[in-house]
Amino acid sequence: MKVRDNHILITGGGSGIGRGLAEAFHALGNQVIIAGRRKQVLDQIVQANPGMASCVVDLQNPKETLDFAARISQAFPTLDVLINNAGIMRAENLLGQQDDLADMEAIVATNLLGPIRLTAALLPLLRRQPKSVVMNVSSGLAFVPLAMTPTYCATKAGLHSYTQSLRYQLQGSTTQVIELIPPYVATDLMHGAEDPRAMPLGAFIAEVMNLIEIHPEATEICVENVKRLRFAAETGKYEALFQGFNDAMTQGRS
Ligand SMILES: NC(=O)c1ccc[n+]([C@@H]2O[C@H](COP(=O)([O-])OP(=O)(O)OC[C@H]3O[C@@H](n4cnc5c(N)ncnc54)[C@H](OP(=O)(O)O)[C@@H]3O)[C@@H](O)[C@H]2O)c1
Repeated sequence: MKVRDNHILITGGGSGIGRGLAEAFHALGNQVIIAGRRKQVLDQIVQANPGMASCVVDLQNPKETLDFAARISQAFPTLDVLINNAGIMRAENLLGQQDDLADMEAIVATNLLGPIRLTAALLPLLRRQPKSVVMNVSSGLAFVPLAMTPTYCATKAGLHSYTQSLRYQLQGSTTQVIELIPPYVATDLMHGAEDPRAMPLGAFIAEVMNLIEIHPEATEICVENVKRLRFAAETGKYEALFQGFNDAMTQGRS
């Protein structure tokens, strides 16, 4: 992926990693459209970044997602980058389950069905461009689950798998498929913004933008901090890391 001359839609672009990416790409002269549920949040960011555009959508809702994709296709016919970044994370006690699994279903709908539905709806448009990109934001927790957030980790492992299949099916085409795999980054995702163990958002975005610039053909974007999780299985450290990581995390988050 090139870092300039793109028309980029970023879901969840109103905060955290999505906002960081939106502002970094905007500063490089790209056309950036941010999307999320909170109009006021999106409006503030557009106001602070003249030329940026925004669109309100709840990606948990299949019909809204389809209507949103249709609006985007009409308003931005040259769209050539989709960044599926919107996500939610919740702690869950699997031993104390309620009959109502609304939280878990919301996590699956947002983190897994959301990107699948939006990619399906926008792929025809993306494939009409001379070159295009789908970037899916997974997590280091796709590779070593944090047991206190089981459904979240399952959706991210699912998104990793889906991304690999999408890339395979698009091989030989002009659409590049990238997985961005963040470590624990200081955002509001699960009250981590003030946690000193989290990677500062600015440092994360700077490292990501640098990696994209120096490896335009990359299939995965992994900052240094996430490599121990991403490559735990390959380095033979999975068992020890899974146990140690989760034991440590019972006192907090990594
Ligand atoms: N921070 C981390 O440690 C970390 C680590 C690994 C992966 N990630 C991934 O990075 C991505 C961004 O997370 P973040 O850390 O930047 O957290 P964040 O600040 O909470 O951002 C999540 C964004 O998703 C949007 N969103 C949530 N549900 C939505 C829905 N139904 N429809 C549309 N938009 C929705 C939110 O906007 P609205 O509330 O306005 O809709 C928000 O802007 C997520 O996929 C997350 O899983 C984060």
